[in-house]
Amino acid sequence: MGNIKIAPSLLAADFGNLQRDVEMVNKSDATWHHVDVMDGVFVPNISFGMPVVKAIAKHATKPLDIHLMIVNPDQYIQTFADLGATNLTVHYEACTHLHRTLQAIKVAGMKAGVALNPHTNINLLEDIITDIDLVCIMSVNPGFGGQSFIANTYDKIKALKALITKKKASTLIEIDGGVTSKNAKALKDAGADVLVAGSFVFKSDNPTATIKELKEIAG
Ligand code: DX5
Ligand code: ZN
Repeated sequence: MGNIKIAPSLLAADFGNLQRDVEMVNKSDATWHHVDVMDGVFVPNISFGMPVVKAIAKHATKPLDIHLMIVNPDQYIQTFADLGATNLTVHYEACTHLHRTLQAIKVAGMKAGVALNPHTNINLLEDIITDIDLVCIMSVNPGFGGQSFIANTYDKIKALKALITKKKASTLIEIDGGVTSKNAKALKDAGADVLVAGSFVFKSDNPTATIKELKEIAG
């Protein structure tokens, strides 16, 4: 207990005051900055690209947890390493040669993450789980902040936890989408190590206090 990681999603930040919001996360109880990159092809939305990631990196004092919702992520691995990413997460559904992609992320000096869409079964990771540093279970369909949490996520967390234990892997379990103070404790109890929260943090009256609240509730 007491070791849940909170990763505020800057997708919900005020982009006109991005430095202020990054600095808020720096000073908060958050562990990572979650950075959502969308290409308008893999998901039906475009968020921001490299110049904005560079601006975030300039002000961030905590590790950058970069979530790529893009096709062909392989072509940008070195770019994100150069931008200072600590974790680079690619989508299972976007990678034909996932093993090769994960090795390339690690060779570039980053932790390798794999995100799963809500319809993608945990068992598909059975032959690769020991190569994955972090699995991001999408608890909404990727592309937008502010959506409702999908309840089937709890069963997926438990199945993933069982797979990690069975394979003696040290993979972290991250939950992304619709995280609030209402489900944070149940997610932690199901086996989550990292909670991403966008709207719940940045649309609250006091984002710093909301991050602290999430951390304390989840424990
Ligand atoms: C969704 C993104 C999430 C998003 C979460 O595609 O991957 O990280 O910002 O936002 P909330 O917490 O508002 O559901
Ligand atoms: Zn995300």
